[in-house]
Amino acid sequence: MNNSKDLNNNKKYNVLFVCLGNICRSPAAEGIFRHIVNEKGMADRFEIDSAGIYGGHAGQHPDRRMRTAALYRGYALSHSARQVRSLDFMDFDLVVAMDDQNYEDLMHLAPSVEATHKIKRMASFLTTHKVSYIPDPYYMGSEGFSMVLDLLEEACLNLYDNIVNSEFI
Ligand code: 4NP
Repeated sequence: MNNSKDLNNNKKYNVLFVCLGNICRSPAAEGIFRHIVNEKGMADRFEIDSAGIYGGHAGQHPDRRMRTAALYRGYALSHSARQVRSLDFMDFDLVVAMDDQNYEDLMHLAPSVEATHKIKRMASFLTTHKVSYIPDPYYMGSEGFSMVLDLLEEACLNLYDNIVNSEFI
């Protein structure tokens, strides 16, 4: 059962996760959210993707350290990095930014006022963790990747609940 207008209309609900490089945070968020949706039996009701503000890693797999940390928790990340494009604001219902700079960059990229309303901060879905953004683990040690996964797991669960409870519809 779900209450989302889009889901009830048999239209897929499309979620795009965005970070800077699309090799650490956003592909991990994509993998975690996909895992949740699969577990709920809702895989055919969602389109889930991730992208980067910066296109320099396009075509690359997620960072090996993030793949290792994620696999340890049961998430096999297989995304191929790509840059955000203007069309994403047409294709996706929700565009979720990992940090404040991603958010500002997306607000500038959005082609319309309506499109800006699709942009949300990932940290706004945190309840127990009191941080305002998802930090970039790229220059951190393995504990940084684990900490980011803790944040993403909680945010993804709450995001899923918000979507099916029509928070954004
Ligand atoms: P991400 O981490 O935004 O979580 O994918 C980064 C990865 C690479 C770079 C920056 C952030 N970089 O500048 O190469």
